[in-house]
Amino acid sequence: MKKYHEKKCIALTLFLAAGGLGSASVQAEEPISVIQAPSNLNASLAELGKKLYFDPRLSKSGFISCNSCHNLSMGGTDNLSTSIGDKWQQGPINAPTVLNSSLNVAQFWDGRAADLQAQAGGPIANPNEMGSSHALAVDVVASIPGYVNEFKAVFGKAKVSIDGITQAIAEFEKTLVTPNSRFDKWLSGDKTALSANEAEGYRIFKESGCVACHNGEAVGGNSFQKLGLMEPYNTDNPAEGRVAVTGEDADRFNFKVPTLRNVELTYPYFHDGAANTLPEAVDTMGRIQLGKKFTRAENAKVVAFLKTLTGDQPKFQLPILPPSSDATPRPTPFK
Ligand code: HEC
Ligand code: HEC
Repeated sequence: MKKYHEKKCIALTLFLAAGGLGSASVQAEEPISVIQAPSNLNASLAELGKKLYFDPRLSKSGFISCNSCHNLSMGGTDNLSTSIGDKWQQGPINAPTVLNSSLNVAQFWDGRAADLQAQAGGPIANPNEMGSSHALAVDVVASIPGYVNEFKAVFGKAKVSIDGITQAIAEFEKTLVTPNSRFDKWLSGDKTALSANEAEGYRIFKESGCVACHNGEAVGGNSFQKLGLMEPYNTDNPAEGRVAVTGEDADRFNFKVPTLRNVELTYPYFHDGAANTLPEAVDTMGRIQLGKKFTRAENAKVVAFLKTLTGDQPKFQLPILPPSSDATPRPTPFK
């Protein structure tokens, strides 16, 4: 573990030496790139997925949908430190945003799902989340004539499968990209899009080394990194990160670097949801990842920059769900 830790620190030091000081090359080639609106999506598949995303009948209680914990009116999160699942159970970990999740290297804090389709089956059958089973979810959907017709239209066959359900939800999630943030406009050449204060915040973000981990289109989401490089992160949360997937001791306390797109909307922060505000999260990151204590003014500038990463939120008509039939298994919220 120690050796790995050192390797990470060396990588960070090299990064800082090479570009972190704001050399001309870094100016020319920004570590963050403009986020691109999605293309080549299957519109009817995504439309079916949107219905399923909002459908609480995929849960045992008939009350919890994907949108309960990844509320698209609230930045794709529940704004709770940890989520509330079936029978009001306390969730073990903070719900990350679904916005721009198609850009993630893998899904979940520890990356245990390879992609959005692999992820989508998880919560439906998780007893602490939606509390259903794949068999029951399929029975419910297959009992609803409106869905059966839509499956026929989209997949060419009426048979409802968990594969079809998760494929459709994943396609809908791929539409949840948030372009046109003020920062993207600035990156694209409109230098009036950021105030002097915000641009200064970006300079501090770059030069202090935040971009070593938060970079690319999603300003994160593309690597697993140690939490607590310079100082340990204190938490009661038992999650150990990537080691749960790889079994490698070196991966202990490595977490997927979250996207910072729309971070103004996705509070509270960190995998345990312990930081309520952006100033607090920025202060913690500076200290434990970079060994830096930002002044109050520097912190405020970085926060001002982070708020320029809020993009166009997904716009669509709220789906009207096809009604259950007489044969639809009824929800059992209290059993
Ligand atoms: C009860 C709350 C809850 C419900 C319901 C729920 N999720 Fe989640 N979701 C979470 C939590 C908590 C995590 C993080 C779990 C982890 O990393 O171990 C998560 C993770 C994710 C991620 C990974 C994001 C990332 O950055 O790694 C995606 C995508 C996602 N959920 C989509 C969905 C979809 C689609 C549904 C519906 C089928 C759904 N969720 C239902 C709470 C919920
Ligand atoms: C060495 C890699 C690394 C560096 C450097 C780094 N971060 Fe992070 N950042 C992470 C990881 C990993 C997490 C997720 C932590 C967790 O598991 O709770 C994170 C989380 C965050 C969050 C919370 C996002 C959320 O949705 O929960 C913010 C805000 C943030 N970082 C900002 C910054 C800022 C500002 C800097 C520079 C001062 C910075 N980070 C430097 C790796 C890094």
